[in-house]
Amino acid sequence: MKRSESGDEVAARNEINPAAFRRRLLAWYRGNARALPWRETSDPYKIWVAEVMLQQTRVAAVTEHYNEFLRRFPTLVSLALASELEVLVAWSGLGYYSRARLLHRAAQFIVTERRGSLPASAAELRTLPGIGEYTAAAIASIAFGEGVAVVDGNVERVVLRLTGRSSENTAAARGLVRAQAQALLPQARGTVSRREVQSGGGAGAQHCDNPAGEHNQAMMELGAMVCLPRAPRCSECPVNSLCRTRGEHPTLPRAAQRSQPVACLLDLRKRGPATEVLLERRSADARVMPAMYELPPLPLEAVEGLEPALRIRHAITNTNYYMQVFSSRRTAPAASLAPAISAGPGRAVKQTGATVRALRSAVPAESRELHWTRTTRLAGLPLTGLTRKILQRLKVMENPRIALPE
Ligand code: ADE
Repeated sequence: MKRSESGDEVAARNEINPAAFRRRLLAWYRGNARALPWRETSDPYKIWVAEVMLQQTRVAAVTEHYNEFLRRFPTLVSLALASELEVLVAWSGLGYYSRARLLHRAAQFIVTERRGSLPASAAELRTLPGIGEYTAAAIASIAFGEGVAVVDGNVERVVLRLTGRSSENTAAARGLVRAQAQALLPQARGTVSRREVQSGGGAGAQHCDNPAGEHNQAMMELGAMVCLPRAPRCSECPVNSLCRTRGEHPTLPRAAQRSQPVACLLDLRKRGPATEVLLERRSADARVMPAMYELPPLPLEAVEGLEPALRIRHAITNTNYYMQVFSSRRTAPAASLAPAISAGPGRAVKQTGATVRALRSAVPAESRELHWTRTTRLAGLPLTGLTRKILQRLKVMENPRIALPE
């Protein structure tokens, strides 16, 4: 674009009436929005936490962890004062742990350098660790009312379908989508006329004191609930009559899923009244999940032909990890573990003493940090999401005093 066009000019070029679009979208959103916990707060800190959690994680998974994280760290200062370990423990299960580290670092920066006050503009928010363009726009509009469009994958799809443009992975094409999303946005607090909101009907008669934030959430909601990637619900769409591609959406190819078999060792032992489990701490330099604890991985060659105690699938982005958990006979599940194991897809283990030793020696000791850890301490450790899932499934987390057969 040579000259910067006004919002309405961009919209007009695509023959979309922005006022009609906004009115219909808003009325639909007010009647259909999911009640999500971060929509019930205006506290910028809580909105920031939600937007960071939502970066690479499904709404359902964030909903599961969000309230507990905020119970643990109710304010920005409490987050800044916590240790990194405490933050990682609270983040456990959400994945992409660098987000937790960056959130913590940003909280410390805000407390020491900004007297605890979160920046209020998208431009300033972008200077903080872990906040990119999309998250900055989300926080600035939802928490502070700035008139800046949020363009995530859902919003991009809505805009492309609405305007009938095909998606291209070029900077120019992305810039155009951004300009179009911006053109649809009410500019700032108070710029949606009362008439525009009120004529939305139904719940739309309430006064809107943050049009940009509400509009952005509505766009994301439309993409997440109606304008779905493969089977869009056009008949339920509030802006159906304004859409250029209605019913003619090319099916987007599904990202190729990889399958990766992996194996790990569940080794338990008794120490007096306590039960201990062998955990490995990942290297502090590991590219993913650095310094987090997991069950010691086993090379697949070492477990060939053995029956796992548990098989479990764990999906991370485009990879399905098919984890087989091997337990040793002497540490074999006690009565308390057996039902969980035999109820699962795997069968209960039957491994010889020799196999046990073989499995243990398959965990190379050098260059790996192994720790016998009391099961009562597990809840306070930064476990990887998959490790937590396995230990919960096998009732090791809830059952700190598992009676092991001698
Ligand atoms: N994804 C990213 N931000 C979101 C929000 N505020 N509501 C719903 N989904 C989102």
